[in-house]
Amino acid sequence: MGRVVAVTNLKGGIGKTTTVVHLSAGLALKGARVLLVDVDAQGNLAMALGIRPRRTIYEVLVDGAQVADCLTPARPNLDILAADESLLMAQPTLAQRPNWPRVLEQVLKPIQPNYDFIIIDCGGSLTVLNINALNAATDVVVPTTVEPFSLKGVGLLLSQLMRLKGSNTSVRAIVPTLFDPRTRQAVALLEDLKGQYGALVTDPIRVNVRLSEASALGRTIYEFDPRSRGATDYARLVEQLSTRWNFTASARPAAAPDAVPATNGSPAPRPTAPAEPPVVTGAGSMLSLSCPNCGGPLQRATVAGYRVAYCDHCRYRRQELVSGPRR
Ligand SMILES: Nc1ncnc2c1ncn2[C@@H]1O[C@H](COP(=O)(O)OP(=O)(O)OP(=O)(O)O)[C@@H](O)[C@H]1O
Ligand SMILES: [Mg+2]
Repeated sequence: MGRVVAVTNLKGGIGKTTTVVHLSAGLALKGARVLLVDVDAQGNLAMALGIRPRRTIYEVLVDGAQVADCLTPARPNLDILAADESLLMAQPTLAQRPNWPRVLEQVLKPIQPNYDFIIIDCGGSLTVLNINALNAATDVVVPTTVEPFSLKGVGLLLSQLMRLKGSNTSVRAIVPTLFDPRTRQAVALLEDLKGQYGALVTDPIRVNVRLSEASALGRTIYEFDPRSRGATDYARLVEQLSTRWNFTASARPAAAPDAVPATNGSPAPRPTAPAEPPVVTGAGSMLSLSCPNCGGPLQRATVAGYRVAYCDHCRYRRQELVSGPRR
């Protein structure tokens, strides 16, 4: 059985959806079979991935449609059970059912064996749907901005979880988001967070405007600008959580990001110069040192389990899976 991961925080606008998109896309690139579930009526997940699903979670929860019939493929290894504003109408209907806190858990059960990870993007309050998401979850990931009020919010969320699930042990990670290392307050509060929650706190995701630009175009940061700070930080998060979840790259990796068609009809913009060194550099076994197109030097980075080589001159790009086959 795969893991069901709820990505949640009671606060809005703190990077939940951005974290869901890039954690999921990174795991899918490593070869995991991933299903994204949106329980937020804003429907941001599908928009961020640049897709327009025909069917949504509303039909599953309210009309009793088969969940397998309402999934939309978003990328290789990555499907979505999308939401839209109709979901607002689902809450009062669900709340009248005797088993209302566990409806989502029950509808996901038949497809759970098909996925390594089912990742749920929660809205910013403890609604009927978010309670369903937390009840369905085997694992909880908590993104949080590094500000005084948001740190209090993490404490509040953990006590709500305690009330709902009887313990906090399903919390697997607290992910500092929108982190600005130039402000002393953010650096000090990150230390406070680590002091309070220890190893649960992952490396932070720094502020990077490329992340909002990517989602406005319906592309992941790995597709849009794989050498940006956002790509580097989310790739590191994918590696940290893969280790915690004991997931290694599989023998069925997804197609390379540059094989994913641009969803808005325009060609992918040329990657800009890296702001800083990538997470991991080193010689790739299959990647030559010079560009096979123009002979220029190849830049290298490791993103979401892939060793990627780029030519800044002619835009050549190639990648290979870092790890071997999964046993
Ligand atoms: N690390 C980052 N750097 C810069 N912008 C970011 C970063 N993370 C998220 N954003 C931007 O911040 C905004 C809010 O992010 P996101 O939608 O992921 O938050 P959310 O918690 O899901 O919000 P909501 O509660 O409304 O669902 C978006 O415009 C997103 O592109
Ligand atoms: Mg969101």
